[in-house]
Amino acid sequence: MATLEGKQIVLGVSGGIAAYKAVELLRLLTKAGAEVSVVMTANACEFVTPLTFQTLSNNPVHTHMFDLYQEKEIGHISLADKADMCVVAPATANIMGKLSSGIADDLLSTTLMATKAPVVLAPSMNVNMYESAALQHNLQVLTQRGFHIIDPDDGYLACGWEGKGKLPSPEHILAWIERVLTPADLAGERVLVSAGPTREEIDPVRYVSNYSSGKMGYAIARSAWERGAEVVLVSGPTALEAPVGVRRVSVTSAREMYAAVMHELPEASVVIKAAAVADYRPCSAAAQKIKKKPGTMSVELEPNPDILAQIGAQKTEQIVVGFAAETHDILRHAQEKLQRKNLDILVANDVTAAGAGFDVETNVVKFLHADGRVEDMPQQSKVEVAYALLDRVSACITANRKSKRAD
Ligand code: CTP
Repeated sequence: MATLEGKQIVLGVSGGIAAYKAVELLRLLTKAGAEVSVVMTANACEFVTPLTFQTLSNNPVHTHMFDLYQEKEIGHISLADKADMCVVAPATANIMGKLSSGIADDLLSTTLMATKAPVVLAPSMNVNMYESAALQHNLQVLTQRGFHIIDPDDGYLACGWEGKGKLPSPEHILAWIERVLTPADLAGERVLVSAGPTREEIDPVRYVSNYSSGKMGYAIARSAWERGAEVVLVSGPTALEAPVGVRRVSVTSAREMYAAVMHELPEASVVIKAAAVADYRPCSAAAQKIKKKPGTMSVELEPNPDILAQIGAQKTEQIVVGFAAETHDILRHAQEKLQRKNLDILVANDVTAAGAGFDVETNVVKFLHADGRVEDMPQQSKVEVAYALLDRVSACITANRKSKRAD
């Protein structure tokens, strides 16, 4: 997991109205333990005072190229050298134009040109400026040169226009910073994750479902993206926000999940099925609300397709991971599922155990491998479990590549 503890971050602020949001980003960075040096352009100082950044970063704010004290003690070269990462938020059309054409005429552009650290740019401007040929060309050049560029949001802009150009939220930018600081061992992989429960309709106001919160699957999706993968998350109904950078496909029933997963499957190199799919659905959903009558009532159920079993049956080179939520005889049931569904890894957990199961922040799991190995994991946060699982997925990918080379 990426930790910002002790990381040296240069936060560049250029002169756009969104400069005020950089204050909140600075707060998040320092809260996460980063040591932040703020560099402001002259125009940025027109929007927010250096004093605000200075107070929150607990460090002097750098604004001038030829401040003698700064040049001697911490001039632009030492700022550039000591950075683990530079982030520019907001990044104006002007600073990106300078960066792409090699102009270094102030402290921020000079520092960015001198650094060997990764640079994250968060563009923010008027929609017409953003769509201009010059800016789009510069973004292309900067992407090719290895700068990490965060797509601006769509929405109502401070200039009165509506469209693309809004600075994403500080939390969104922080997620990118964490991603860039995380080793990208899953770069080039396309990970398909399913998460959450499914709902099977009884009538327009009732359904059959389960207690799944989706937290485990969402943690896997977020962590896989952080480790460089392209991620699609097929999600049943949950209260969770889509993780940054992840494409979410929302579904309700098991049959919808089946269709969505099968549609995405051909593109996926890794499939992780953390969803709690309802095994049965009502034989027919009533078109109108079922009215109360005296006596008992029953709902007849029929089986849903087993999505994971289908994936296991047709897989060729994909890595396929399943989950088994059990309440008893965990290992026996889990081993049987691993084989029956033809999986590479099965994550088994006792949902009745303390610190495990639905809607809690932690999990206690066992990893069962196709070669018979069983690993007992300690109680961990769901993000830690996600990272541990992805370590094993990454090892499977490496082993597959090796055996392919040997063939
Ligand atoms: N699964 C699935 N489609 C289903 C049922 C389950 O894809 N219709 C997947 C789940 O996403 C999970 C794995 O299969 O990765 C195991 O789910 P689980 O409910 O534990 O097992 P079942 O196969 O449904 O068996 P049982 O309910 O008898 O324990």
